[in-house]
Amino acid sequence: MAEPVVVVRELRKAFAGITALNGVDLEIERGRVCALLGPNGAGKTTLVRILTTLLRPDSGSVRVAGWNVLEEPGEVRAAVGLTGQNSMVDGLLTGRENLLLVARLRGAGRREARIVADDLLDRFRLTDAARRPAGGYSGGMRRRLDLAAALVGGPRLVVLDEPTTGLDPESRLDTWDAVADLTARGTTVLLTTQYLEEADRLADRITVVDRGEVVATGTADELKAAAGTSRVVLCVAEDHHVEPATRAAASATGAEPRVDRRARRVEVAVTDGQAAVGRVLANLTAAGVEVLEIGLRRATLDDVFLGLTAGPRRRPG
Ligand SMILES: Nc1ncnc2c1ncn2[C@@H]1O[C@H](COP(=O)(O)OP(=O)(O)OP(=O)(O)O)[C@@H](O)[C@H]1O
Ligand SMILES: [Mg+2]
Repeated sequence: MAEPVVVVRELRKAFAGITALNGVDLEIERGRVCALLGPNGAGKTTLVRILTTLLRPDSGSVRVAGWNVLEEPGEVRAAVGLTGQNSMVDGLLTGRENLLLVARLRGAGRREARIVADDLLDRFRLTDAARRPAGGYSGGMRRRLDLAAALVGGPRLVVLDEPTTGLDPESRLDTWDAVADLTARGTTVLLTTQYLEEADRLADRITVVDRGEVVATGTADELKAAAGTSRVVLCVAEDHHVEPATRAAASATGAEPRVDRRARRVEVAVTDGQAAVGRVLANLTAAGVEVLEIGLRRATLDDVFLGLTAGPRRRPG
């Protein structure tokens, strides 16, 4: 089998004592979309910068399209199209001029650059705006232009660092369409995101990173399954009922409940949804707990994320 397009092993990087990446492993097969999902400061951009040769790792190995980022940076750059976290579009140039510039920088002749630019403008629905300065584009249009620029030269890997952060919902949908279009053409994509919905929707495989480490990897379904298939959620009427309700939920399910004391809310992962609700309710009644609300909901990627990352809602221990 061919080598995966991205192979990262034991990657480490620190900045003046701050560990940004602490032994990361990652592989992306050809034609796949990998989402790197993680909160602020997880190390996503650091990984992207190392993959695209903008930053040197402290240790570990990184191969992109078969090339080593330290030994063959020129080949790596030729194989990768990058859309950074901040737009790289020049606002004074028109959309078309931006693409022509990138195409020439990537070695195309004048004629070829024009063909490439016009084709990409068409593909990303920017033909009408092509001769206007990009500074006047909406956020979504600028993002599309960024994506188009990343595709110049037919890179083997397209890297998108938070492609939809800061976009309004419509522009986000627009960008998702553009990414889906890439993937339909078999382009290998690495995208970073803080949005679970985005990873769920666009990616074949999701790698969850937190504080420089990979905390989980799998398909969205696998990650959801690992978080338990559903949740029993209940609210009690009295503060002093939170404790017994938590014990009742734990003993009925064998899992450790998540508790929100202020909301007097207890939530527990279960694999046998409906039957579990019955057991929890029976235990609550036996314990004399007054229940205001009880229900069953499906696990979301949020559950996966909250369970895996050291978010503010996670309890110590
Ligand atoms: N050039 C730098 N100098 C010093 N520290 C840095 C530098 N770049 C990143 N860091 C630190 O490394 C850690 C990881 O940062 P990184 O930008 O990779 O996170 P991220 O996952 O991209 O976050 P975000 O979602 O906010 O973009 C953070 O603690 C950050 O402060
Ligand atoms: Mg970042």
